[in-house]
Amino acid sequence: IFSSVPTAPPDAILGLTAQFRADPDPRKVNLGVGAFRTSSNKPYVLPVVRRVEQQLADDPSATHEYLPQDGLQSFCDASARLILGADSPALADGRVTTVQALSGTGALRVGFAFVANFISSSTSVYVPKQTWSNHRNVIPAAGLPRALEYRYLDPRTGAVDIAALVEDLDKAPAGSIILLHGCAHNPTGADPTQPQWLQILDVVKRRKLVPFFDNAYQGFASGSLETDAWSVRTFVAAGLDMLVAQSYAKNMGMYGERVGALSVVASSAGAEDAVRSQLKATIRAMYSSPPKHGAMVAAAILGDEKLFAEWEGELVKMSARIMDMRVKLKAALEKNATPGNWDRITSQIGMFSYTGLTSQQVTFMREKYHVYMTANGRISMAGLTDDTVQYVADAMKDAVES
Ligand code: LMR
Repeated sequence: IFSSVPTAPPDAILGLTAQFRADPDPRKVNLGVGAFRTSSNKPYVLPVVRRVEQQLADDPSATHEYLPQDGLQSFCDASARLILGADSPALADGRVTTVQALSGTGALRVGFAFVANFISSSTSVYVPKQTWSNHRNVIPAAGLPRALEYRYLDPRTGAVDIAALVEDLDKAPAGSIILLHGCAHNPTGADPTQPQWLQILDVVKRRKLVPFFDNAYQGFASGSLETDAWSVRTFVAAGLDMLVAQSYAKNMGMYGERVGALSVVASSAGAEDAVRSQLKATIRAMYSSPPKHGAMVAAAILGDEKLFAEWEGELVKMSARIMDMRVKLKAALEKNATPGNWDRITSQIGMFSYTGLTSQQVTFMREKYHVYMTANGRISMAGLTDDTVQYVADAMKDAVES
């Protein structure tokens, strides 16, 4: 009965990692998946994470018992405070239900399943025209119609096309879910300015839309946890019904531990027990309960002033390394007199740069230079190092001129 199973196409992002690993060329450079690398191109275990792990290993009271379906309470409480702000009016009013989730993807998956089951399975979901490729997988997999699009980027300027974005949201039916990237938009690296966020908030309120914020980069984009949470907090302060996904993959470097959270923020209190009970039932049927280790590490860091301050220092260092690579790549492209305007490399924020390279140019770079990036021309800036930036810039020049 399995002989008729068709082979799935490789994942747009994770498929590249597999291809990269299989490439024997010593010059190869992986700018595909968004995973931080040190200046010597090594994965980075944050020292604060390592220390907490060592403490846990020696703690006789730490067990391997199951967590409840909604996860580790101290982790959920700290996560809600981190993204919403400790002084959030929604937290003060008890309008927030937070559950632990399998990183950002898991939070989105549970959140969309909750929408499908308890709002309506025909709810329209709008994602930015340029978005993380997995958004388009998760939404129908959760039982909702395929995602609709709102226009996002102005390709001429490399910035957000706010007029087009607002025009599209203005046509969305009331009750539609609007997926928003809280900061460090993936793949474009172009975020709305604060006045533009207020314009988005205005149309969301006017059309009675339901924002679902995906936050995979809090603290990692600007180096400040507060700055990167501004959009979410501004929307929460407006008293909307909304959902918020969080991931600790990038900002704590815990990619494989799948540490994340989903918060359902209601405009008025009263439904929390029912919402929690349904989120727990959803999780029970999906994977029973979340893994414990990463959540314990994150909770320890979030709950201790000194560890927290150390973590904040790490965020500044990681984001600074990415910004340094932006400056160096732009300088190398300009020194090479590569045709085009490369200002966007330094004006964009977060893990990625949306280079404007076409899919043909991307293929050219992979085949001739063994430089891997997603077909939409996105490069993961942390995949660059001082040793490879000139090589990549030379390859880009060749691709643009060929
Ligand atoms: C990315 O966009 O490269 C990351 O978020 C990793 C992933 O899972 O796709």
